[in-house]
Amino acid sequence: MTKFIICNWKMNLGNQDSIEFLNQIEMKSLNNDHQFIICPPYTSLGLVANNLKSKESDWHLGAQNCSDQDKGARTGDISAAMLKDLGCNYTILGHSERRQYHQESNESVKGKALKVITHGMIPIICVGETEEDYIQGKTIDVLTEQLSGSVPSNQCIVAYEPVWAIGTGKVPTIKEIETVHQSIDNVMQDLGFLNIPIVYGGSVKPDNINQILSKPTVSGVLIGGASIQPESMNAIIKEVCL
Ligand code: 13P
Repeated sequence: MTKFIICNWKMNLGNQDSIEFLNQIEMKSLNNDHQFIICPPYTSLGLVANNLKSKESDWHLGAQNCSDQDKGARTGDISAAMLKDLGCNYTILGHSERRQYHQESNESVKGKALKVITHGMIPIICVGETEEDYIQGKTIDVLTEQLSGSVPSNQCIVAYEPVWAIGTGKVPTIKEIETVHQSIDNVMQDLGFLNIPIVYGGSVKPDNINQILSKPTVSGVLIGGASIQPESMNAIIKEVCL
């Protein structure tokens, strides 16, 4: 089964930095078992798209968000059609940072996901519990609510990102990741959505990526911090591709 290696650059790497970064990355994967997806900020999408094309890379392009509207008076927003136009195949939606800093609701994530699907891309829909939810044993309840409210169809990837694991160096145990992924799959099945890839995100690094990817319920990873340093990104490529 192909595993997704999704790089979320968040609000990092402007045009110059993006190109310098890409020029230092060993992009030719040595096997076909992994699909790499780079999700730069909007401002670097066009440049990264051209760079990947010029290198005849099989890496794909993704965005980090989009509007739930097609066009019109939405200052500062970017539509799914615009992203498709730039060469995106994927769009991350409902990341916990957007849910936290932009008060994104499940309903809004669902609306965006529908636009992404309509324009022939795949939404990567993020869900995850806070540390407080985790401590109180509410993980599955929180995820069930997020999934039921924000996933519109089976044409998507679900990203399980515990909020407390993002950028902290804390990672759930492998057993916990497996259990939660199984629960997410059960919720998806109850909603009638079968065979949805479920990727894990939160402090994925070169030294833990293979252990996480080795589990059959894990269809890939969503990487933040380690995907913007050429050294750690090359180490990740080496780990998974060799
Ligand atoms: P880190 O890998 O930096 O923990 O970030 C994870 C993340 O938020 C990816 O979307």
